[in-house]
Amino acid sequence: MSRVFLVTGANTGIGYEVVQQIASKDKNSVVYLSSRSEAKGKEAIASLEKGGLTNVKFVLLDVTDTKTIASAYELDVLVNNAGNGFFDREQDARKADINAVREAVELNLIGLIQTTTAFLPLLRKGTNSVILNVTTDMASQEHLTHLPPCPLHCVAYNTSKAAANSYTISLAKMLEGEGIKVNAVTPGYTATKLNSFGAHAPGARSVQDGAAIVVPWALLDKDGPTGKFIWWNGKEHAW
Ligand SMILES: NC(=O)c1ccc[n+]([C@@H]2O[C@H](COP(=O)([O-])OP(=O)(O)OC[C@H]3O[C@@H](n4cnc5c(N)ncnc54)[C@H](OP(=O)(O)O)[C@@H]3O)[C@@H](O)[C@H]2O)c1
Repeated sequence: MSRVFLVTGANTGIGYEVVQQIASKDKNSVVYLSSRSEAKGKEAIASLEKGGLTNVKFVLLDVTDTKTIASAYELDVLVNNAGNGFFDREQDARKADINAVREAVELNLIGLIQTTTAFLPLLRKGTNSVILNVTTDMASQEHLTHLPPCPLHCVAYNTSKAAANSYTISLAKMLEGEGIKVNAVTPGYTATKLNSFGAHAPGARSVQDGAAIVVPWALLDKDGPTGKFIWWNGKEHAW
């Protein structure tokens, strides 16, 4: 069955790889690669087409700018992947850069909510519709509670992503009766631009492996679960 997918923030990193893997696995699908930059998005599309993929299309979309969130196409699966960690800014809870917190909330929470709301009418008309929010281990309250004092307590990133997790729970509940599945998945520590390609700590997985953790949850079949927080090992995790 052919479906239409849209991945936000897909000109690079995990989003780009998610587009590539979905488009390769399901050649009948149409996969919209969205980017806030026309130049970067078109460059990404050109590289996928060079690799033989003909079912990818570009759409300009800045999740923080509602004017760019156009909805003039069909859609079955929305992958809310766009995000940033703001790790070049002070995020220690004792002295956090408040503008970094604001920007993180604007992008990682409000951007995600307004994108989802804009596409919901299309998803309602879709086939086996799925909303997948790409989250992080660092958004898990349970995980953070068990971490010692350490640089992973990043106030701007963690709180904005945790709030997005809370939205995921509520949206999943409210859409349960309509059969639209809403889940959050964390790829875990993956070498991308967001974390200076894993320069600060060893152990980052490749972007291909990070995307491979996300993709099955975008390709979920109609009997799949909803309202789950999926960890990088593929198992459900406590919020
Ligand atoms: N890397 C990790 O270790 C890791 C771990 C857990 C979760 N995640 C999550 O994975 C997702 C993807 O991140 P990544 O690691 O692949 O980082 P990345 O390589 O920096 O990619 C982030 C993408 O988001 C885009 N973006 C930023 N602001 C945007 C906006 N206002 N509107 C639309 N797109 C925007 C970026 O566009 P530009 O290129 O124009 O900046 C880029 O395409 C994020 O949600 C992140 O929180 C990452």
